Amino acid sequence: MKLLATAAAVLSFASTVLCAEKGNLTKPLTSRLILPSNFKPPQNFKNVNLVHIINLEKSYPKEQINVLIENTAKDAQDEYFIPFTSQQMATIGGLEVKDRKDPDAGLFDAEAVEFDSESDTQFYRIRLPKPLAPKTQQTLGISYSYLSALEPLPKHVGQQESQYLVYTFSAYCPSTYVTLKQKTEVKFPSTNVPEYTIVPGSKGESESPQKQGAKFTYGSFGELPAGAVEPVKVRYEFTKPVIHVSRLERDIEVSHWGGNIAFEDRFTLHNHAANLSKNFDRVQWASQQYYSPPSTAIKELKFPLRVGSQDPYFTDVIGNVSTSRFRSNKREANLEIKPRYPIFGGWNYPFRVGWNADLKKFLRKLKTGQGYVLNVPFLEGPKQPEGVSYEHIELRVILPEGAENVQYSTTVPLVGAEVTLHRTFMDTTGRTALTLTAINIVDDFRDRELIVTYDYPFLAGFRKPLVIFTAFVGVFCAAWAIGGLDVGIHGKKK
Ligand SMILES: *[C@@H]1O[C@H](CO)[C@@H](O)[C@H](O)[C@H]1NC(C)=O
Ligand SMILES: *[C@@H]1O[C@H](CO)[C@@H](O)[C@H](O)[C@H]1NC(C)=O
Ligand SMILES: *[C@@H]1O[C@H](CO)[C@@H](O)[C@H](O)[C@H]1NC(C)=O
Repeated sequence: MKLLATAAAVLSFASTVLCAEKGNLTKPLTSRLILPSNFKPPQNFKNVNLVHIINLEKSYPKEQINVLIENTAKDAQDEYFIPFTSQQMATIGGLEVKDRKDPDAGLFDAEAVEFDSESDTQFYRIRLPKPLAPKTQQTLGISYSYLSALEPLPKHVGQQESQYLVYTFSAYCPSTYVTLKQKTEVKFPSTNVPEYTIVPGSKGESESPQKQGAKFTYGSFGELPAGAVEPVKVRYEFTKPVIHVSRLERDIEVSHWGGNIAFEDRFTLHNHAANLSKNFDRVQWASQQYYSPPSTAIKELKFPLRVGSQDPYFTDVIGNVSTSRFRSNKREANLEIKPRYPIFGGWNYPFRVGWNADLKKFLRKLKTGQGYVLNVPFLEGPKQPEGVSYEHIELRVILPEGAENVQYSTTVPLVGAEVTLHRTFMDTTGRTALTLTAINIVDDFRDRELIVTYDYPFLAGFRKPLVIFTAFVGVFCAAWAIGGLDVGIHGKKK
Protein backbone atom coordinates (compact mmCIF):
# COMPACT_ATOMS: atom_id res chain seq x y z
CA MET A 1 0.00 0.00 0.00
CA LYS A 2 1.60 3.18 -1.20
CA LEU A 3 -0.05 5.44 1.30
CA LEU A 4 0.79 3.37 4.29
CA ALA A 5 3.04 5.65 6.24
CA THR A 6 4.98 4.36 9.16
CA ALA A 7 4.36 5.96 12.47
CA ALA A 8 8.02 6.79 12.88
CA ALA A 9 8.31 8.68 9.63
CA VAL A 10 5.13 10.48 10.46
CA LEU A 11 6.27 11.43 13.93
CA SER A 12 9.22 13.35 12.61
CA PHE A 13 6.95 15.02 10.09
CA ALA A 14 4.31 15.91 12.66
CA SER A 15 6.67 18.11 14.61
CA THR A 16 7.27 20.31 11.59
CA VAL A 17 3.64 20.62 10.79
CA LEU A 18 1.41 23.56 11.64
CA CYS A 19 -1.86 23.01 13.33
CA ALA A 20 -4.46 25.66 12.86
CA GLU A 21 -5.44 27.61 15.93
CA LYS A 22 -9.11 27.39 16.69
CA GLY A 23 -11.06 30.21 15.10
CA ASN A 24 -8.09 31.67 13.23
CA LEU A 25 -7.69 31.44 9.53
CA THR A 26 -5.73 28.29 9.03
CA LYS A 27 -2.19 28.49 7.76
CA PRO A 28 -1.51 26.89 4.39
CA LEU A 29 -0.95 23.19 4.32
CA THR A 30 2.71 22.95 4.94
CA SER A 31 5.05 21.02 2.84
CA ARG A 32 8.60 19.92 3.18
CA LEU A 33 9.31 21.39 -0.21
CA ILE A 34 10.83 24.81 0.34
CA LEU A 35 11.82 26.74 -2.76
CA PRO A 36 13.97 29.88 -3.07
CA SER A 37 11.99 33.11 -2.80
CA ASN A 38 12.70 34.07 -6.42
CA PHE A 39 11.18 30.80 -7.63
CA LYS A 40 9.15 30.89 -10.85
CA PRO A 41 7.63 27.70 -12.19
CA PRO A 42 9.60 26.72 -15.31
CA GLN A 43 7.57 27.18 -18.52
CA ASN A 44 7.55 23.50 -19.43
CA PHE A 45 3.88 23.14 -20.27
CA LYS A 46 1.04 24.75 -22.10
CA ASN A 47 -2.65 24.26 -21.40
CA VAL A 48 -4.19 23.16 -24.68
CA ASN A 49 -7.76 23.21 -23.42
CA LEU A 50 -9.12 24.06 -20.01
CA VAL A 51 -12.56 23.94 -18.39
CA HIS A 52 -12.95 25.50 -14.96
CA ILE A 53 -16.14 24.54 -13.12
CA ILE A 54 -17.24 26.52 -10.06
CA ASN A 55 -20.03 24.87 -8.13
CA LEU A 56 -21.93 27.16 -5.74
CA GLU A 57 -24.78 24.77 -4.96
CA LYS A 58 -23.50 24.09 -1.44
CA SER A 59 -22.48 26.43 1.36
CA TYR A 60 -18.85 26.39 0.20
CA PRO A 61 -17.49 26.84 -3.33
CA LYS A 62 -16.31 23.62 -4.91
CA GLU A 63 -14.09 23.94 -7.96
CA GLN A 64 -12.85 21.59 -10.61
CA ILE A 65 -10.24 22.29 -13.31
CA ASN A 66 -10.14 19.86 -16.20
CA VAL A 67 -7.11 20.63 -18.30
CA LEU A 68 -5.35 19.03 -21.23
CA ILE A 69 -1.68 19.80 -20.74
CA GLU A 70 1.19 19.41 -23.21
CA ASN A 71 4.89 19.21 -22.48
CA THR A 72 6.58 22.01 -24.44
CA ALA A 73 10.07 21.35 -23.06
CA LYS A 74 12.87 19.36 -24.70
CA ASP A 75 12.83 16.56 -22.18
CA ALA A 76 10.31 14.64 -20.11
CA GLN A 77 8.61 16.61 -17.29
CA ASP A 78 6.76 15.53 -14.17
CA GLU A 79 6.14 18.73 -12.17
CA TYR A 80 3.09 20.87 -12.95
CA PHE A 81 2.36 23.98 -10.83
CA ILE A 82 -0.97 25.67 -10.09
CA PRO A 83 -1.04 29.18 -8.58
CA PHE A 84 -3.28 30.41 -5.75
CA THR A 85 -3.41 33.73 -3.93
CA SER A 86 -2.25 33.63 -0.32
CA GLN A 87 -5.86 34.15 0.82
CA GLN A 88 -6.98 31.16 -1.27
CA MET A 89 -4.06 29.15 0.02
CA ALA A 90 -5.17 29.76 3.60
CA THR A 91 -8.69 28.50 2.94
CA ILE A 92 -8.24 25.84 0.26
CA GLY A 93 -8.95 22.28 1.22
CA GLY A 94 -9.15 18.78 -0.14
CA LEU A 95 -7.12 19.40 -3.29
CA GLU A 96 -7.00 16.21 -5.33
CA VAL A 97 -5.62 15.48 -8.77
CA LYS A 98 -6.53 12.60 -11.05
CA ASP A 99 -5.97 11.61 -14.64
CA ARG A 100 -9.32 12.32 -16.32
CA LYS A 101 -8.70 9.63 -18.92
CA ASP A 102 -7.47 7.04 -16.46
CA PRO A 103 -9.36 7.26 -13.16
CA ASP A 104 -7.88 3.94 -12.02
CA ALA A 105 -4.44 5.54 -11.85
CA GLY A 106 -5.44 6.89 -8.42
CA LEU A 107 -4.62 10.23 -6.86
CA PHE A 108 -1.50 12.08 -7.95
CA ASP A 109 0.91 13.45 -5.43
CA ALA A 110 0.05 17.14 -4.85
CA GLU A 111 1.49 19.40 -2.20
CA ALA A 112 1.55 23.03 -1.24
CA VAL A 113 4.88 24.62 -2.00
CA GLU A 114 6.29 27.09 0.48
CA PHE A 115 8.75 29.49 -1.01
CA ASP A 116 8.09 33.04 0.12
CA SER A 117 5.39 33.66 2.69
CA GLU A 118 5.29 37.36 1.74
CA SER A 119 4.38 36.67 -1.86
CA ASP A 120 0.71 36.85 -2.81
CA THR A 121 1.18 34.03 -5.31
CA GLN A 122 1.63 30.60 -3.83
CA PHE A 123 1.72 27.26 -5.59
CA TYR A 124 0.63 23.68 -5.42
CA ARG A 125 2.95 21.26 -7.12
CA ILE A 126 1.46 18.26 -8.87
CA ARG A 127 3.74 15.35 -9.50
CA LEU A 128 2.76 13.28 -12.53
CA PRO A 129 3.09 9.58 -11.79
CA LYS A 130 5.03 9.11 -15.04
CA PRO A 131 7.14 11.89 -16.62
CA LEU A 132 5.40 13.26 -19.68
CA ALA A 133 7.49 12.97 -22.86
CA PRO A 134 8.06 16.12 -24.98
CA LYS A 135 5.09 17.08 -27.20
CA THR A 136 2.80 14.57 -25.49
CA GLN A 137 -0.40 15.41 -23.65
CA GLN A 138 -2.23 14.38 -20.51
CA THR A 139 -5.62 15.31 -19.00
CA LEU A 140 -5.63 16.44 -15.38
CA GLY A 141 -8.74 16.69 -13.22
CA ILE A 142 -7.98 18.99 -10.29
CA SER A 143 -10.63 19.44 -7.57
CA TYR A 144 -10.69 21.47 -4.36
CA SER A 145 -12.93 23.64 -2.17
CA TYR A 146 -12.55 26.93 -0.33
CA LEU A 147 -13.74 27.48 3.22
CA SER A 148 -15.17 30.77 4.48
CA ALA A 149 -15.05 32.22 0.96
CA LEU A 150 -18.72 33.23 0.66
CA GLU A 151 -19.97 36.52 2.08
CA PRO A 152 -23.64 37.23 2.78
CA LEU A 153 -24.79 40.55 1.31
CA PRO A 154 -26.61 42.22 2.97
CA LYS A 155 -24.89 41.08 6.15
CA HIS A 156 -28.15 41.15 8.12
CA VAL A 157 -31.52 39.76 7.04
CA GLY A 158 -34.89 39.27 8.70
CA GLN A 159 -35.75 35.78 9.89
CA GLN A 160 -38.08 35.19 6.91
CA GLU A 161 -35.99 36.99 4.29
CA SER A 162 -33.96 35.55 1.46
CA GLN A 163 -30.22 35.45 1.77
CA TYR A 164 -27.74 36.36 -0.95
CA LEU A 165 -24.09 35.32 -1.06
CA VAL A 166 -21.19 36.95 -2.90
CA TYR A 167 -18.32 35.04 -4.48
CA THR A 168 -15.39 36.45 -6.42
CA PHE A 169 -13.13 34.57 -8.80
CA SER A 170 -11.35 35.06 -12.11
CA ALA A 171 -13.06 34.38 -15.42
CA TYR A 172 -9.63 33.29 -16.68
CA CYS A 173 -8.50 30.27 -14.73
CA PRO A 174 -5.32 31.22 -12.83
CA SER A 175 -2.41 29.40 -14.44
CA THR A 176 1.36 29.52 -14.50
CA TYR A 177 1.33 28.50 -18.17
CA VAL A 178 -0.01 29.79 -21.48
CA THR A 179 -3.59 28.62 -22.04
CA LEU A 180 -4.78 28.23 -25.64
CA LYS A 181 -8.49 27.79 -25.01
CA GLN A 182 -10.63 27.90 -21.88
CA LYS A 183 -13.98 28.56 -20.31
CA THR A 184 -15.32 28.95 -16.77
CA GLU A 185 -18.69 27.48 -15.85
CA VAL A 186 -20.52 28.61 -12.72
CA LYS A 187 -23.31 26.45 -11.29
CA PHE A 188 -25.68 28.39 -9.03
CA PRO A 189 -28.19 26.87 -6.59
CA SER A 190 -31.03 28.61 -8.49
CA THR A 191 -31.63 30.99 -11.38
CA ASN A 192 -31.93 33.90 -8.93
CA VAL A 193 -28.62 35.71 -9.61
CA PRO A 194 -29.32 39.42 -9.27
CA GLU A 195 -25.73 40.60 -9.81
CA TYR A 196 -22.84 39.32 -11.88
CA THR A 197 -19.87 40.80 -13.74
CA ILE A 198 -20.16 41.05 -17.52
CA VAL A 199 -16.96 40.42 -19.47
CA PRO A 200 -17.06 42.15 -22.89
CA GLY A 201 -16.22 40.00 -25.88
CA SER A 202 -13.10 40.71 -27.90
CA LYS A 203 -11.84 39.65 -31.32
CA GLY A 204 -15.25 38.48 -32.44
CA GLU A 205 -15.97 36.51 -29.24
CA SER A 206 -19.36 37.14 -27.72
CA GLU A 207 -19.94 38.82 -24.37
CA SER A 208 -19.84 36.66 -21.20
CA PRO A 209 -21.54 35.07 -19.38
CA GLN A 210 -23.82 32.93 -21.49
CA LYS A 211 -26.75 31.88 -19.34
CA GLN A 212 -28.40 28.49 -19.36
CA GLY A 213 -30.79 28.19 -16.43
CA ALA A 214 -28.74 28.11 -13.24
CA LYS A 215 -25.48 27.68 -15.21
CA PHE A 216 -23.43 30.67 -16.41
CA THR A 217 -20.48 30.26 -18.76
CA TYR A 218 -17.61 32.75 -19.09
CA GLY A 219 -15.78 32.23 -22.39
CA SER A 220 -14.65 30.43 -24.26
CA PHE A 221 -11.54 32.55 -24.40
CA GLY A 222 -8.66 32.23 -26.85
CA GLU A 223 -4.95 32.20 -26.10
CA LEU A 224 -4.01 33.91 -22.81
CA PRO A 225 -0.58 34.37 -21.23
CA ALA A 226 0.44 32.86 -17.90
CA GLY A 227 -0.98 34.81 -14.97
CA ALA A 228 -3.91 36.38 -16.89
CA VAL A 229 -6.73 37.38 -14.53
CA GLU A 230 -10.23 38.77 -15.13
CA PRO A 231 -12.03 39.42 -11.82
CA VAL A 232 -15.67 38.43 -11.63
CA LYS A 233 -18.10 38.92 -8.78
CA VAL A 234 -21.43 37.13 -8.52
CA ARG A 235 -24.25 37.61 -6.03
CA TYR A 236 -26.85 34.87 -5.86
CA GLU A 237 -29.67 33.65 -3.68
CA PHE A 238 -28.80 31.01 -1.08
CA THR A 239 -31.50 30.89 1.58
CA LYS A 240 -29.93 28.04 3.51
CA PRO A 241 -27.63 27.81 6.52
CA VAL A 242 -23.86 28.13 6.03
CA ILE A 243 -22.68 25.42 8.41
CA HIS A 244 -19.10 25.70 9.54
CA VAL A 245 -17.40 23.51 12.13
CA SER A 246 -14.41 25.40 13.52
CA ARG A 247 -13.30 22.31 15.42
CA LEU A 248 -14.25 18.66 15.47
CA GLU A 249 -12.69 16.29 17.96
CA ARG A 250 -13.49 12.70 17.10
CA ASP A 251 -12.55 9.79 19.34
CA ILE A 252 -12.74 6.19 18.24
CA GLU A 253 -12.06 3.77 21.06
CA VAL A 254 -11.34 0.13 20.33
CA SER A 255 -11.90 -2.41 23.07
CA HIS A 256 -10.85 -5.98 22.24
CA TRP A 257 -11.90 -7.17 25.66
CA GLY A 258 -15.46 -5.85 25.37
CA GLY A 259 -15.73 -6.50 21.62
CA ASN A 260 -16.90 -2.89 21.34
CA ILE A 261 -15.98 0.18 19.34
CA ALA A 262 -17.10 3.54 20.75
CA PHE A 263 -17.36 6.73 18.71
CA GLU A 264 -17.64 10.24 20.09
CA ASP A 265 -17.70 13.44 18.02
CA ARG A 266 -17.42 16.83 19.71
CA PHE A 267 -18.42 19.72 17.45
CA THR A 268 -17.94 23.46 17.70
CA LEU A 269 -20.46 24.40 15.06
CA HIS A 270 -21.29 27.87 13.71
CA ASN A 271 -23.81 29.18 11.27
CA HIS A 272 -21.99 31.63 8.97
CA ALA A 273 -25.20 32.80 7.31
CA ALA A 274 -26.28 36.46 7.48
CA ASN A 275 -27.04 37.67 11.02
CA LEU A 276 -30.60 38.44 12.01
CA SER A 277 -31.49 42.09 11.49
CA LYS A 278 -33.93 41.99 14.44
CA ASN A 279 -34.30 39.85 17.55
CA PHE A 280 -35.53 36.32 16.98
CA ASP A 281 -39.33 36.20 17.01
CA ARG A 282 -40.41 32.80 18.24
CA VAL A 283 -44.11 33.34 17.61
CA GLN A 284 -43.55 34.37 14.00
CA TRP A 285 -41.18 31.44 13.55
CA ALA A 286 -43.65 28.92 14.96
CA SER A 287 -46.51 30.25 12.84
CA GLN A 288 -44.48 29.79 9.65
CA GLN A 289 -43.11 26.33 10.30
CA TYR A 290 -46.19 24.61 8.97
CA TYR A 291 -45.17 25.77 5.46
CA SER A 292 -41.51 24.97 6.16
CA PRO A 293 -40.21 27.95 4.15
CA PRO A 294 -36.52 28.12 3.10
CA SER A 295 -34.49 29.51 5.98
CA THR A 296 -30.94 30.46 6.85
CA ALA A 297 -31.42 28.81 10.26
CA ILE A 298 -30.26 25.31 11.12
CA LYS A 299 -33.39 23.45 12.20
CA GLU A 300 -32.01 19.96 12.49
CA LEU A 301 -28.90 17.90 11.95
CA LYS A 302 -29.02 14.41 10.48
CA PHE A 303 -26.38 11.77 11.09
CA PRO A 304 -26.72 8.64 8.97
CA LEU A 305 -24.58 6.21 10.98
CA ARG A 306 -23.36 2.76 10.05
CA VAL A 307 -25.98 0.04 10.26
CA GLY A 308 -25.72 -1.63 13.65
CA SER A 309 -24.74 1.52 15.56
CA GLN A 310 -26.38 1.52 18.98
CA ASP A 311 -26.82 3.38 22.30
CA PRO A 312 -26.45 6.84 20.77
CA TYR A 313 -26.20 9.79 23.12
CA PHE A 314 -26.28 13.47 22.45
CA THR A 315 -25.67 16.48 24.65
CA ASP A 316 -25.33 20.12 23.83
CA VAL A 317 -23.37 22.41 26.06
CA ILE A 318 -26.55 24.00 27.43
CA GLY A 319 -27.64 20.55 28.62
CA ASN A 320 -30.04 18.01 27.22
CA VAL A 321 -32.64 20.46 25.96
CA SER A 322 -32.71 19.51 22.30
CA THR A 323 -34.68 16.58 21.05
CA SER A 324 -33.12 13.72 19.20
CA ARG A 325 -34.50 10.75 17.39
CA PHE A 326 -32.76 7.51 16.57
CA ARG A 327 -34.10 5.15 13.97
CA SER A 328 -32.24 1.90 13.65
CA ASN A 329 -33.03 -1.30 11.80
CA LYS A 330 -31.35 -3.77 9.45
CA ARG A 331 -30.89 -1.16 6.72
CA GLU A 332 -30.18 2.09 8.50
CA ALA A 333 -29.17 3.82 11.74
CA ASN A 334 -30.19 7.47 11.59
CA LEU A 335 -29.66 9.94 14.38
CA GLU A 336 -31.53 13.24 14.08
CA ILE A 337 -31.00 16.19 16.37
CA LYS A 338 -33.32 19.16 16.69
CA PRO A 339 -31.90 22.04 18.73
CA ARG A 340 -34.55 23.77 20.85
CA TYR A 341 -33.99 27.05 19.03
CA PRO A 342 -33.28 27.30 15.32
CA ILE A 343 -29.62 28.33 14.93
CA PHE A 344 -29.45 31.54 12.93
CA GLY A 345 -26.50 33.27 11.27
CA GLY A 346 -23.77 34.35 13.70
CA TRP A 347 -24.90 31.79 16.30
CA ASN A 348 -22.84 28.90 17.65
CA TYR A 349 -23.88 25.43 18.66
CA PRO A 350 -21.35 23.29 20.51
CA PHE A 351 -22.51 19.71 21.06
CA ARG A 352 -21.34 16.12 21.24
CA VAL A 353 -22.72 12.86 19.89
CA GLY A 354 -21.56 9.36 20.54
CA TRP A 355 -22.54 5.77 19.88
CA ASN A 356 -21.27 2.20 20.12
CA ALA A 357 -20.96 -0.61 17.62
CA ASP A 358 -19.89 -4.20 17.42
CA LEU A 359 -16.11 -4.25 16.94
CA LYS A 360 -16.35 -7.25 14.57
CA LYS A 361 -17.84 -4.99 11.90
CA PHE A 362 -14.75 -2.77 11.86
CA LEU A 363 -11.86 -4.99 12.87
CA ARG A 364 -10.27 -7.94 11.14
CA LYS A 365 -7.47 -10.14 12.44
CA LEU A 366 -4.78 -11.02 9.95
CA LYS A 367 -4.49 -14.73 9.22
CA THR A 368 -0.92 -14.89 10.36
CA GLY A 369 0.89 -13.17 13.20
CA GLN A 370 -0.62 -10.76 15.68
CA GLY A 371 -1.75 -8.10 13.23
CA TYR A 372 -5.16 -6.42 13.14
CA VAL A 373 -6.75 -4.20 10.51
CA LEU A 374 -9.24 -1.55 11.62
CA ASN A 375 -11.40 0.14 8.98
CA VAL A 376 -13.45 3.14 10.18
CA PRO A 377 -14.98 6.23 8.55
CA PHE A 378 -12.68 9.24 8.95
CA LEU A 379 -15.62 11.63 9.30
CA GLU A 380 -19.28 10.96 10.18
CA GLY A 381 -20.57 14.48 10.77
CA PRO A 382 -24.06 15.66 9.90
CA LYS A 383 -25.22 15.06 6.34
CA GLN A 384 -27.01 18.22 5.27
CA PRO A 385 -28.18 19.17 1.78
CA GLU A 386 -26.39 22.55 2.10
CA GLY A 387 -23.08 20.95 3.11
CA VAL A 388 -20.77 21.35 6.10
CA SER A 389 -17.20 22.62 6.16
CA TYR A 390 -14.61 21.70 8.79
CA GLU A 391 -11.76 24.01 9.62
CA HIS A 392 -9.91 21.75 12.03
CA ILE A 393 -10.41 18.03 12.65
CA GLU A 394 -8.60 16.09 15.32
CA LEU A 395 -9.26 12.37 15.07
CA ARG A 396 -8.03 10.11 17.83
CA VAL A 397 -8.05 6.33 17.50
CA ILE A 398 -7.53 4.80 20.91
CA LEU A 399 -6.24 1.24 20.63
CA PRO A 400 -6.01 -1.35 23.39
CA GLU A 401 -3.17 -1.33 25.85
CA GLY A 402 -0.17 -3.11 24.41
CA ALA A 403 -1.03 -2.40 20.76
CA GLU A 404 2.15 -1.61 18.85
CA ASN A 405 3.56 -1.06 15.39
CA VAL A 406 0.70 1.28 14.43
CA GLN A 407 0.39 2.22 10.77
CA TYR A 408 -2.41 3.99 8.94
CA SER A 409 -3.70 4.89 5.52
CA THR A 410 -6.34 7.35 4.33
CA THR A 411 -7.03 9.49 1.28
CA VAL A 412 -8.03 12.44 3.49
CA PRO A 413 -5.21 15.02 3.26
CA LEU A 414 -3.59 15.31 6.70
CA VAL A 415 -1.43 17.98 8.27
CA GLY A 416 -0.32 15.97 11.28
CA ALA A 417 -0.10 12.50 12.77
CA GLU A 418 1.18 11.28 16.08
CA VAL A 419 1.23 8.08 18.12
CA THR A 420 1.02 8.58 21.88
CA LEU A 421 0.08 6.73 25.04
CA HIS A 422 -3.32 7.48 26.50
CA ARG A 423 -3.82 6.55 30.14
CA THR A 424 -7.17 5.67 31.60
CA PHE A 425 -8.41 3.94 34.73
CA MET A 426 -6.87 0.52 35.39
CA ASP A 427 -4.28 0.85 32.64
CA THR A 428 -0.73 -0.18 33.37
CA THR A 429 1.35 1.11 30.48
CA GLY A 430 -1.38 3.25 28.90
CA ARG A 431 -3.34 2.74 25.71
CA THR A 432 -1.82 3.46 22.34
CA ALA A 433 -3.50 6.40 20.61
CA LEU A 434 -3.11 7.54 17.02
CA THR A 435 -3.98 11.21 16.55
CA LEU A 436 -4.54 12.55 13.03
CA THR A 437 -5.07 16.22 12.21
CA ALA A 438 -6.71 17.60 9.08
CA ILE A 439 -7.68 21.16 8.17
CA ASN A 440 -10.09 22.66 5.63
CA ILE A 441 -12.10 19.55 4.91
CA VAL A 442 -15.61 19.58 3.45
CA ASP A 443 -18.34 17.00 3.91
CA ASP A 444 -17.57 15.49 0.50
CA PHE A 445 -14.94 13.63 2.48
CA ARG A 446 -17.56 12.11 4.74
CA ASP A 447 -17.24 8.32 4.82
CA ARG A 448 -13.69 8.30 3.47
CA GLU A 449 -11.98 5.32 5.03
CA LEU A 450 -9.27 5.33 7.63
CA ILE A 451 -7.38 2.06 7.80
CA VAL A 452 -5.25 1.42 10.86
CA THR A 453 -3.10 -1.65 11.24
CA TYR A 454 -1.43 -2.69 14.45
CA ASP A 455 0.01 -5.65 16.28
CA TYR A 456 -1.65 -6.78 19.43
CA PRO A 457 0.33 -9.55 21.09
CA PHE A 458 -1.81 -12.38 22.44
CA LEU A 459 -0.64 -11.85 26.01
CA ALA A 460 -1.43 -8.12 25.92
CA GLY A 461 -5.08 -9.15 25.83
CA PHE A 462 -4.73 -10.56 29.30
CA ARG A 463 -3.08 -7.52 30.74
CA LYS A 464 -6.27 -5.68 31.60
CA PRO A 465 -8.17 -8.58 33.18
CA LEU A 466 -5.00 -9.50 35.01
CA VAL A 467 -4.61 -5.98 36.36
CA ILE A 468 -8.22 -5.89 37.43
CA PHE A 469 -7.91 -9.33 38.99
CA THR A 470 -4.74 -8.37 40.84
CA ALA A 471 -6.35 -5.16 41.98
CA PHE A 472 -9.34 -7.05 43.31
CA VAL A 473 -7.18 -9.60 45.07
CA GLY A 474 -5.24 -6.70 46.55
CA VAL A 475 -8.38 -4.96 47.79
CA PHE A 476 -9.64 -8.26 49.13
CA CYS A 477 -6.46 -8.98 51.06
CA ALA A 478 -6.36 -5.43 52.36
CA ALA A 479 -9.97 -5.61 53.44
CA TRP A 480 -9.29 -8.90 55.14
CA ALA A 481 -6.22 -7.53 56.91
CA ILE A 482 -7.91 -4.28 57.91
CA GLY A 483 -11.04 -6.16 58.88
CA GLY A 484 -9.19 -7.46 61.89
CA LEU A 485 -8.37 -3.97 63.10
CA ASP A 486 -10.74 -1.61 64.72
CA VAL A 487 -10.60 1.40 62.44
CA GLY A 488 -14.27 2.37 62.62
CA ILE A 489 -15.09 5.96 63.44
CA HIS A 490 -17.09 5.90 66.55
CA GLY A 491 -19.46 8.65 67.44
CA LYS A 492 -18.62 10.54 70.59
CA LYS A 493 -20.12 8.77 73.48
CA LYS A 494 -22.23 11.02 75.58
C1 LIG B 1 -4.72 33.79 16.05
O1 LIG B 1 -5.33 35.02 16.33
C2 LIG B 1 -4.73 35.76 17.38
C3 LIG B 1 -5.53 37.02 17.60
O2 LIG B 1 -6.83 36.88 17.18
C4 LIG B 1 -3.29 36.07 17.02
O3 LIG B 1 -2.65 36.75 18.08
C5 LIG B 1 -2.56 34.79 16.75
O4 LIG B 1 -1.25 35.05 16.31
C6 LIG B 1 -3.27 33.98 15.67
N1 LIG B 1 -2.62 32.71 15.51
C7 LIG B 1 -2.31 32.22 14.31
C8 LIG B 1 -1.71 30.87 14.31
O5 LIG B 1 -2.52 32.83 13.28
C1 LIG C 1 -32.30 13.46 27.26
O1 LIG C 1 -32.75 13.24 28.59
C2 LIG C 1 -33.80 12.30 28.68
C3 LIG C 1 -34.26 12.24 30.14
O2 LIG C 1 -33.28 12.68 31.01
C4 LIG C 1 -33.32 10.95 28.19
O3 LIG C 1 -34.36 9.99 28.28
C5 LIG C 1 -32.89 11.09 26.77
O4 LIG C 1 -32.37 9.85 26.31
C6 LIG C 1 -31.83 12.15 26.64
N1 LIG C 1 -31.53 12.31 25.25
C7 LIG C 1 -30.32 12.14 24.78
C8 LIG C 1 -30.25 12.15 23.32
O5 LIG C 1 -29.34 12.01 25.47
C1 LIG D 1 -23.03 38.53 13.63
O1 LIG D 1 -23.25 38.08 14.97
C2 LIG D 1 -22.10 37.60 15.63
C3 LIG D 1 -22.52 37.06 16.97
O2 LIG D 1 -23.45 37.86 17.60
C4 LIG D 1 -21.08 38.73 15.73
O3 LIG D 1 -19.92 38.24 16.35
C5 LIG D 1 -20.75 39.21 14.34
O4 LIG D 1 -19.86 40.30 14.41
C6 LIG D 1 -22.01 39.63 13.61
N1 LIG D 1 -21.68 39.97 12.24
C7 LIG D 1 -22.04 41.11 11.68
C8 LIG D 1 -21.65 41.30 10.28
O5 LIG D 1 -22.67 41.97 12.29
